[in-house]
Amino acid sequence: MTMEKKKHSIHTLQEMKRSGEKIAWLTAYDFPTAQFAEAAGLDMLLVGDSLGMCVYGYEGTVPVTMDQCIVHSEAVRRAAPNTFVMGDMPFLSYQISDEEAVRNAGRFLKEAGVDAVKLEGGKRIVPRIRALLDAGIVVCGHIGLTPQSSGQLGGHKAQGRTIESARLLIEDALAIEETGAQLLLLEAVPPEVAGFIAKKLHIPVLSIGAGPLCDGQLLIVSDLIGQFQAFTPKFVKRYCDVATTITEAMKAYVADVRTGRFPADEHCYHMLKDEAGRFPELEKEFE
Ligand code: KIV
Repeated sequence: MTMEKKKHSIHTLQEMKRSGEKIAWLTAYDFPTAQFAEAAGLDMLLVGDSLGMCVYGYEGTVPVTMDQCIVHSEAVRRAAPNTFVMGDMPFLSYQISDEEAVRNAGRFLKEAGVDAVKLEGGKRIVPRIRALLDAGIVVCGHIGLTPQSSGQLGGHKAQGRTIESARLLIEDALAIEETGAQLLLLEAVPPEVAGFIAKKLHIPVLSIGAGPLCDGQLLIVSDLIGQFQAFTPKFVKRYCDVATTITEAMKAYVADVRTGRFPADEHCYHMLKDEAGRFPELEKEFE
Protein backbone atom coordinates (compact mmCIF):
# COMPACT_ATOMS: atom_id res chain seq x y z
CA MET A 1 0.00 0.00 0.00
CA THR A 2 1.40 3.43 -0.90
CA MET A 3 1.18 6.06 1.83
CA GLU A 4 -0.50 9.28 0.69
CA LYS A 5 1.91 12.20 0.79
CA LYS A 6 1.25 14.57 3.71
CA LYS A 7 0.99 18.19 2.69
CA HIS A 8 3.19 20.71 4.48
CA SER A 9 1.81 23.64 6.38
CA ILE A 10 3.87 26.75 7.10
CA HIS A 11 4.46 25.23 10.56
CA THR A 12 5.93 21.97 9.25
CA LEU A 13 8.17 23.94 6.88
CA GLN A 14 9.38 26.05 9.79
CA GLU A 15 9.91 22.84 11.78
CA MET A 16 12.15 21.56 8.95
CA LYS A 17 14.37 24.60 9.44
CA ARG A 18 14.58 23.99 13.18
CA SER A 19 15.50 20.32 12.68
CA GLY A 20 17.99 21.07 9.88
CA GLU A 21 16.03 19.14 7.24
CA LYS A 22 16.50 20.79 3.82
CA ILE A 23 13.42 21.93 1.91
CA ALA A 24 13.20 20.85 -1.77
CA TRP A 25 11.33 23.41 -3.86
CA LEU A 26 10.69 23.59 -7.60
CA THR A 27 8.66 25.72 -9.98
CA ALA A 28 5.76 24.14 -11.90
CA TYR A 29 3.41 25.72 -14.40
CA ASP A 30 1.17 22.93 -15.69
CA PHE A 31 -0.83 19.90 -14.61
CA PRO A 32 1.42 17.03 -15.78
CA THR A 33 4.64 18.57 -14.43
CA ALA A 34 3.00 19.25 -11.07
CA GLN A 35 1.79 15.63 -10.94
CA PHE A 36 5.37 14.44 -11.47
CA ALA A 37 6.59 16.86 -8.80
CA GLU A 38 4.09 15.62 -6.24
CA ALA A 39 5.03 11.99 -7.02
CA ALA A 40 8.73 12.92 -6.70
CA GLY A 41 8.18 14.23 -3.17
CA LEU A 42 8.83 17.97 -3.60
CA ASP A 43 8.08 19.89 -0.39
CA MET A 44 6.92 23.02 -2.19
CA LEU A 45 5.97 24.20 -5.68
CA LEU A 46 6.20 27.77 -6.98
CA VAL A 47 4.03 28.83 -9.88
CA GLY A 48 6.64 31.42 -10.75
CA ASP A 49 6.15 34.39 -13.02
CA SER A 50 9.13 32.80 -14.79
CA LEU A 51 6.29 31.13 -16.70
CA GLY A 52 6.51 34.24 -18.89
CA MET A 53 9.82 32.96 -20.26
CA CYS A 54 9.41 29.22 -19.73
CA VAL A 55 5.87 28.83 -21.08
CA TYR A 56 5.01 31.94 -23.12
CA GLY A 57 8.42 32.78 -24.64
CA TYR A 58 8.56 36.37 -23.33
CA GLU A 59 12.00 37.91 -22.81
CA GLY A 60 11.35 38.54 -19.11
CA THR A 61 8.71 38.38 -16.40
CA VAL A 62 7.33 41.93 -16.68
CA PRO A 63 4.56 41.19 -19.25
CA VAL A 64 3.07 38.36 -17.14
CA THR A 65 -0.50 39.05 -15.97
CA MET A 66 -2.51 38.03 -12.91
CA ASP A 67 -4.91 36.08 -15.12
CA GLN A 68 -2.06 34.00 -16.55
CA CYS A 69 -0.72 33.31 -13.06
CA ILE A 70 -4.15 32.24 -11.82
CA VAL A 71 -4.77 29.84 -14.70
CA HIS A 72 -1.40 28.13 -14.20
CA SER A 73 -1.75 28.07 -10.39
CA GLU A 74 -5.16 26.39 -10.67
CA ALA A 75 -3.70 23.65 -12.85
CA VAL A 76 -0.78 23.06 -10.49
CA ARG A 77 -3.09 23.01 -7.45
CA ARG A 78 -5.33 20.38 -9.10
CA ALA A 79 -2.34 18.21 -9.97
CA ALA A 80 -0.60 18.45 -6.59
CA PRO A 81 -3.25 18.51 -3.85
CA ASN A 82 -0.75 17.29 -1.25
CA THR A 83 2.05 19.75 -1.96
CA PHE A 84 2.50 23.29 -0.56
CA VAL A 85 1.83 25.53 -3.59
CA MET A 86 2.90 29.18 -3.79
CA GLY A 87 1.62 31.79 -6.23
CA ASP A 88 4.04 34.42 -7.51
CA MET A 89 2.72 37.98 -7.63
CA PRO A 90 3.46 39.35 -11.12
CA PHE A 91 4.69 42.84 -11.94
CA LEU A 92 2.11 45.58 -11.12
CA SER A 93 -0.08 43.21 -9.09
CA TYR A 94 1.26 44.64 -5.81
CA GLN A 95 3.40 47.70 -6.55
CA ILE A 96 0.57 50.27 -6.76
CA SER A 97 -1.21 50.01 -3.42
CA ASP A 98 -1.90 47.82 -0.40
CA GLU A 99 -5.49 47.39 -1.62
CA GLU A 100 -4.43 46.07 -5.03
CA ALA A 101 -1.87 43.81 -3.41
CA VAL A 102 -4.46 42.27 -1.07
CA ARG A 103 -7.04 41.91 -3.86
CA ASN A 104 -4.57 40.15 -6.16
CA ALA A 105 -3.04 37.94 -3.47
CA GLY A 106 -6.60 37.09 -2.44
CA ARG A 107 -7.34 35.96 -6.00
CA PHE A 108 -4.50 33.45 -5.74
CA LEU A 109 -6.12 31.98 -2.62
CA LYS A 110 -9.77 32.16 -3.68
CA GLU A 111 -9.46 31.19 -7.35
CA ALA A 112 -6.42 28.91 -7.36
CA GLY A 113 -6.32 27.61 -3.79
CA VAL A 114 -2.62 28.31 -3.24
CA ASP A 115 -1.07 28.11 0.24
CA ALA A 116 1.09 31.25 0.06
CA VAL A 117 2.18 34.08 -2.19
CA LYS A 118 5.62 35.49 -2.97
CA LEU A 119 6.51 39.07 -3.81
CA GLU A 120 9.80 40.71 -4.74
CA GLY A 121 11.50 43.50 -2.82
CA GLY A 122 13.10 44.40 0.50
CA LYS A 123 12.40 47.26 2.88
CA ARG A 124 10.42 49.21 0.31
CA ILE A 125 7.86 46.41 0.09
CA VAL A 126 7.35 46.03 3.84
CA PRO A 127 3.96 47.87 3.90
CA ARG A 128 2.64 45.45 1.25
CA ILE A 129 3.86 42.42 3.18
CA ARG A 130 2.13 43.79 6.29
CA ALA A 131 -1.13 44.33 4.38
CA LEU A 132 -1.09 40.74 3.09
CA LEU A 133 -0.31 39.36 6.53
CA ASP A 134 -3.16 41.44 8.01
CA ALA A 135 -5.44 39.76 5.47
CA GLY A 136 -4.37 36.35 6.83
CA ILE A 137 -2.17 35.40 3.85
CA VAL A 138 1.09 33.44 4.18
CA VAL A 139 3.87 35.51 2.60
CA CYS A 140 7.30 34.71 1.18
CA GLY A 141 9.70 37.62 0.62
CA HIS A 142 12.12 37.56 -2.33
CA ILE A 143 15.34 39.60 -2.33
CA GLY A 144 18.73 39.59 -4.07
CA LEU A 145 18.29 39.39 -7.81
CA THR A 146 14.66 40.42 -8.28
CA PRO A 147 13.85 39.88 -11.98
CA GLN A 148 10.87 42.28 -12.04
CA SER A 149 13.26 45.16 -11.22
CA SER A 150 16.25 43.86 -13.20
CA GLY A 151 16.25 47.16 -15.13
CA GLN A 152 17.18 49.02 -11.93
CA LEU A 153 19.75 46.33 -11.07
CA GLY A 154 21.42 46.77 -14.47
CA GLY A 155 20.40 43.30 -15.67
CA HIS A 156 20.12 39.79 -14.25
CA LYS A 157 23.13 40.18 -11.96
CA ALA A 158 24.11 38.52 -8.67
CA GLN A 159 23.54 40.81 -5.68
CA GLY A 160 25.33 41.28 -2.34
CA ARG A 161 28.85 40.76 -3.67
CA THR A 162 30.27 43.89 -2.04
CA ILE A 163 30.23 44.74 1.67
CA GLU A 164 27.85 47.65 1.03
CA SER A 165 25.33 45.64 -1.00
CA ALA A 166 25.61 42.69 1.42
CA ARG A 167 24.71 45.10 4.24
CA LEU A 168 21.62 46.31 2.34
CA LEU A 169 20.60 42.71 1.69
CA ILE A 170 20.93 41.77 5.36
CA GLU A 171 18.89 44.85 6.34
CA ASP A 172 16.20 43.84 3.84
CA ALA A 173 16.11 40.27 5.20
CA LEU A 174 15.81 41.48 8.79
CA ALA A 175 13.02 43.92 7.85
CA ILE A 176 11.08 41.18 6.06
CA GLU A 177 11.30 38.79 9.02
CA GLU A 178 10.42 41.57 11.46
CA THR A 179 7.27 42.37 9.45
CA GLY A 180 6.14 38.79 9.97
CA ALA A 181 6.69 37.14 6.58
CA GLN A 182 6.87 33.39 7.08
CA LEU A 183 9.45 32.54 4.37
CA LEU A 184 12.25 34.30 2.51
CA LEU A 185 13.82 33.53 -0.86
CA LEU A 186 17.33 34.74 -1.76
CA GLU A 187 18.19 34.80 -5.47
CA ALA A 188 21.74 34.97 -6.86
CA VAL A 189 23.48 35.93 -3.61
CA PRO A 190 26.97 34.83 -2.41
CA PRO A 191 26.87 31.79 -0.11
CA GLU A 192 28.71 33.71 2.65
CA VAL A 193 25.93 36.32 2.78
CA ALA A 194 23.08 33.82 2.30
CA GLY A 195 24.48 31.53 5.01
CA PHE A 196 24.70 34.43 7.43
CA ILE A 197 21.09 35.47 6.71
CA ALA A 198 19.83 31.87 7.06
CA LYS A 199 21.57 31.57 10.43
CA LYS A 200 20.33 34.94 11.67
CA LEU A 201 16.67 34.53 10.68
CA HIS A 202 14.20 32.23 12.41
CA ILE A 203 12.04 31.73 9.30
CA PRO A 204 13.10 29.34 6.50
CA VAL A 205 15.50 31.06 4.09
CA LEU A 206 15.43 29.41 0.68
CA SER A 207 18.01 29.71 -2.07
CA ILE A 208 17.93 29.97 -5.82
CA GLY A 209 21.55 30.54 -6.68
CA ALA A 210 22.40 31.47 -3.09
CA GLY A 211 24.52 28.45 -2.20
CA PRO A 212 24.23 25.45 0.09
CA LEU A 213 23.93 27.14 3.48
CA CYS A 214 20.26 28.07 3.18
CA ASP A 215 17.38 26.03 4.60
CA GLY A 216 16.33 24.72 1.19
CA GLN A 217 16.74 25.08 -2.57
CA LEU A 218 14.57 26.24 -5.44
CA LEU A 219 15.16 25.51 -9.12
CA ILE A 220 13.18 26.39 -12.23
CA VAL A 221 11.75 23.11 -13.49
CA SER A 222 12.42 24.05 -17.14
CA ASP A 223 16.14 24.38 -16.28
CA LEU A 224 16.22 21.17 -14.23
CA ILE A 225 14.76 19.06 -17.05
CA GLY A 226 16.66 20.79 -19.87
CA GLN A 227 13.59 22.34 -21.51
CA PHE A 228 14.46 26.07 -21.39
CA GLN A 229 16.79 26.89 -24.27
CA ALA A 230 17.40 30.67 -24.18
CA PHE A 231 20.12 30.73 -21.47
CA THR A 232 21.30 28.77 -18.43
CA PRO A 233 22.22 30.64 -15.25
CA LYS A 234 25.39 29.55 -13.41
CA PHE A 235 23.40 28.16 -10.46
CA VAL A 236 21.41 25.65 -12.54
CA LYS A 237 22.01 21.92 -12.29
CA ARG A 238 20.46 20.09 -15.23
CA TYR A 239 19.18 16.62 -14.35
CA CYS A 240 17.94 15.50 -17.77
CA ASP A 241 17.66 16.71 -21.34
CA VAL A 242 14.03 16.61 -22.40
CA ALA A 243 14.66 19.03 -25.27
CA THR A 244 16.79 16.38 -27.00
CA THR A 245 14.49 13.50 -26.01
CA ILE A 246 11.38 15.30 -27.31
CA THR A 247 13.02 16.55 -30.51
CA GLU A 248 14.35 13.06 -31.30
CA ALA A 249 10.90 11.54 -30.66
CA MET A 250 9.28 14.10 -32.99
CA LYS A 251 11.87 13.44 -35.72
CA ALA A 252 11.17 9.70 -35.45
CA TYR A 253 7.43 10.43 -35.78
CA VAL A 254 7.97 12.55 -38.92
CA ALA A 255 10.06 9.74 -40.43
CA ASP A 256 7.43 7.11 -39.54
CA VAL A 257 4.62 9.15 -41.12
CA ARG A 258 6.61 9.81 -44.29
CA THR A 259 7.61 6.14 -44.70
CA GLY A 260 4.20 4.73 -43.69
CA ARG A 261 5.57 2.95 -40.59
CA PHE A 262 2.95 4.84 -38.58
CA PRO A 263 0.14 4.04 -38.00
CA ALA A 264 0.61 0.27 -37.77
CA ASP A 265 -2.22 -2.27 -37.50
CA GLU A 266 -2.24 -2.01 -33.67
CA HIS A 267 -3.12 1.69 -33.93
CA CYS A 268 -6.27 1.04 -36.02
CA TYR A 269 -9.92 0.67 -34.96
CA HIS A 270 -11.04 -2.26 -37.14
CA MET A 271 -14.72 -2.89 -37.85
CA LEU A 272 -16.52 -5.29 -35.57
CA LYS A 273 -15.90 -8.90 -36.66
CA ASP A 274 -19.35 -9.71 -38.11
CA GLU A 275 -19.72 -6.28 -39.71
CA ALA A 276 -16.37 -6.28 -41.53
CA GLY A 277 -17.49 -9.10 -43.86
CA ARG A 278 -20.41 -6.93 -45.04
CA PHE A 279 -18.30 -3.85 -45.77
CA PRO A 280 -17.57 -4.64 -49.46
CA GLU A 281 -21.36 -4.50 -50.08
CA LEU A 282 -21.50 -1.04 -48.53
CA GLU A 283 -18.51 0.05 -50.62
CA LYS A 284 -20.38 -0.96 -53.79
CA GLU A 285 -23.33 1.24 -52.78
CA PHE A 286 -21.11 4.30 -53.05
CA GLU A 287 -19.28 3.46 -56.25
O1 KIV B 1 9.30 33.27 -11.14
C1 KIV B 1 10.11 32.52 -10.60
O2 KIV B 1 10.26 31.35 -10.92
C2 KIV B 1 10.90 33.10 -9.52
C3 KIV B 1 12.24 32.49 -9.30
C4 KIV B 1 13.19 32.96 -10.32
C5 KIV B 1 12.71 32.77 -7.96
O3 KIV B 1 10.52 34.06 -8.95
